[in-house]
Amino acid sequence: GICYGMHWLAKEFGGTVETITDQSGFGVECIYRMIADPILSCVRDKESVLSSHGDTVTKLPAQFEQCAFTVSSKAIAAMRWFDRQIWGLQFHPEVPETPSGKNMLSCFVRCVCTCLNDWEPKNIIADIQHKTLAALGNHKAIIGFSGGVDSSTLAAILAPTLQDNLLAVTIDAGNLREGELKEIVETASFINVRHLIIDAAEQFQSVLSTLTEAELKRQAFSLMYRAILNGTAAAHGALDDNDRPLLIQGSLATDFIESGCKGAATVIKTHHNTFFGIHPLGELFKYEVRELARNLNLPVSISERQPFPGPGLFVRILGVPPTTELLEIVRWADAQVTKILKNHLIYDTLSQLVVALNGVKTVGVKGDARVYAYSIFVRAVTTLDFMTATGFQIRDNVRREITSAVVKHPAIVRVLYDETDKPPATTEFE
Ligand code: XMP
Repeated sequence: GICYGMHWLAKEFGGTVETITDQSGFGVECIYRMIADPILSCVRDKESVLSSHGDTVTKLPAQFEQCAFTVSSKAIAAMRWFDRQIWGLQFHPEVPETPSGKNMLSCFVRCVCTCLNDWEPKNIIADIQHKTLAALGNHKAIIGFSGGVDSSTLAAILAPTLQDNLLAVTIDAGNLREGELKEIVETASFINVRHLIIDAAEQFQSVLSTLTEAELKRQAFSLMYRAILNGTAAAHGALDDNDRPLLIQGSLATDFIESGCKGAATVIKTHHNTFFGIHPLGELFKYEVRELARNLNLPVSISERQPFPGPGLFVRILGVPPTTELLEIVRWADAQVTKILKNHLIYDTLSQLVVALNGVKTVGVKGDARVYAYSIFVRAVTTLDFMTATGFQIRDNVRREITSAVVKHPAIVRVLYDETDKPPATTEFE
């Protein structure tokens, strides 16, 4: 049990949990290991760890012994009931701010759970090929292909096994960034997968350009995306024995968690491709998929590619319906910011860049005239798994260069920079 998990264990077995009124439970602190322990033995006696808790265990249950204490507050930092193989950690071993946390979790998995370390890209790739082939048999199938790291890696894994039975389909909803369609075509050709592009920009525009609320846009996008893929599957004979469409998606574990499809997780945002189809990457995180891509020797432009949301620029227009005109403005602004960050060698150090248009107009002055126009948000983050992220601070001189380039557009009057961490802010604005 970690943090709240430790509190729950303490309560469950008769210990005491109390609320702490000062701020001692928040931030990086030092813990001191008191006994030899399989989880803590691989770390030094004194360790720096991250804590984030408003409650604390003040009395251990009778069966438990204390393994470590917090140096500053003398609070119980770790406890165990060895005979039952139960551990509680007050701090967070899973975050980078606990430098030995990975070691602790690794000791837990190896020494306590006695699991083998068999996460090897080649095993995972073989497993995905085997399971997908078993699910499809000799049927044809369609893979939703955005050219991003997930769908490209999955297509590269499946293309050699499914061969001509696999058709990669890219739906151009008019929501892509500058030059992106060309890159998608190049990626499909590199992977050597059969590829079809469907121009559905007008179809999407007719529905989405009437919607403002984020979840409504996401749901409408998802429905239309699914309907088009279903139609394409039928047209290409990618159907199972009961004439149901055989669709493969590159959705990841994070997409399912945020769409509220895993356990008791709440809906944070509906990802467009989690509600239908086969999801061979559904248990993986982004950094694991990147490992698979590297193992397949895919170019860096694919394996290290920044993510981009399925609904694309539709969810980068905020507070007003995403009309074609606004899509063009945000597409242009995104291209300017990307170019400047690439010139300064910053782009590749980011986990993701988000450029969004704020639909609330504000007053400005250009030449001698009053303008009443839009603002552009620029947000960059660094992260390992996108479950949490750190807001990136773009250097002053680069920010100024971006601002003066972007406000050249007649419909843009301000540039606003967002460096909020996730949580509380998600990577995307919508
Ligand atoms: P958030 O905004 O939730 O995003 O921090 C986490 C990552 O997921 C991407 N994202 C999406 N990807 N379909 C996708 O394929 C979606 O609907 C979607 N929404 C967000 C986001 O860009 C970030 O990389």
